[in-house]
Amino acid sequence: MCILKCPVCQEKLKKNDKSYRCKNNHTFDMGKQGYVNLHMSNEKRSKNPGDDKKMIVSRKNFLEKGYYKEISETLNKIIKKEIGDKNGINILDIGCGEGYYTNLLRDNLKNENINSHIIGIDISKDGIINASRTYKEIEWIVASGSNIPIADESLDYVICMFSYIDPIEYKRVLKKGGKLITVSTGEYHLVEIKEVVYEKLKMDYYRPTQDILDGYNYEELVNVKYKVELEDGKDIKNLFDMTPYRWKSPKDGVERLFNLSKLKITIDVNIDVFEKN
Ligand SMILES: C[S@@+](CC[C@H](N)C(=O)[O-])C[C@H]1O[C@@H](n2cnc3c(N)ncnc32)[C@H](O)[C@@H]1O
Ligand SMILES: [Zn+2]
Repeated sequence: MCILKCPVCQEKLKKNDKSYRCKNNHTFDMGKQGYVNLHMSNEKRSKNPGDDKKMIVSRKNFLEKGYYKEISETLNKIIKKEIGDKNGINILDIGCGEGYYTNLLRDNLKNENINSHIIGIDISKDGIINASRTYKEIEWIVASGSNIPIADESLDYVICMFSYIDPIEYKRVLKKGGKLITVSTGEYHLVEIKEVVYEKLKMDYYRPTQDILDGYNYEELVNVKYKVELEDGKDIKNLFDMTPYRWKSPKDGVERLFNLSKLKITIDVNIDVFEKN
């Protein structure tokens, strides 16, 4: 059953071969790579919202080197434990970017014979085009996380990795008892990059737990922390270019970083699990 809703009239969408249509005949054709764009132009605050092509390609090249695989493995273990012996699970990866983690989750559940339907949504069209070009067994949608084109109470899991969090909208699409899983950067994440780029080290980081209170029960925190050596200047550059540091770093600091051919970095991320009550 299709759980998507029409972004124009909010009626249910039905999928028919390569297009989606509601009972009022609003029709949305799939792009040739296999995604659908349900982001209405009157919802957009800029022409190309979300991560741009350069960030998407840098992230894809970096993630495919496997340095962050342990994050994916830990997340997938948590989800598998949560699912238990349930089947027919609906999962949304919101702010999925180019779909690296979404795809590994799908592979993992498939290998475990868990029957699931996985949707990846991002506001970045470049992100979704990239994802749909590479990974074919996921439903890829361009849309905003603040206005998700999914019917109320239809998802078992919403996963939000390093992306914008809208707890009220996620609560709307989650079933009662459904889980929101956020993955966010911890205090020491990439501290070595900050040490090279900035004169003065600022240890700021964001815990989503302070904002996800209303309508959720807090379940657990799993911290993933390890060090890994980047073995190529290209990997250092790709990592830097996929982070928001790209927009706000001093030129001389970036030059210092890009002159390195190796760098040991700390990965420190928090996986938080919330249950919709
Ligand atoms: C740091 S990236 C993370 C991508 C992916 N989850 C990952 O971890 O590799 C943040 C992503 O959130 C997307 N994003 C930002 N604001 C969004 C919004 N309001 N709705 C949906 N996606 C959004 C960006 O386009 C970008 O792809
Ligand atoms: Zn409609």
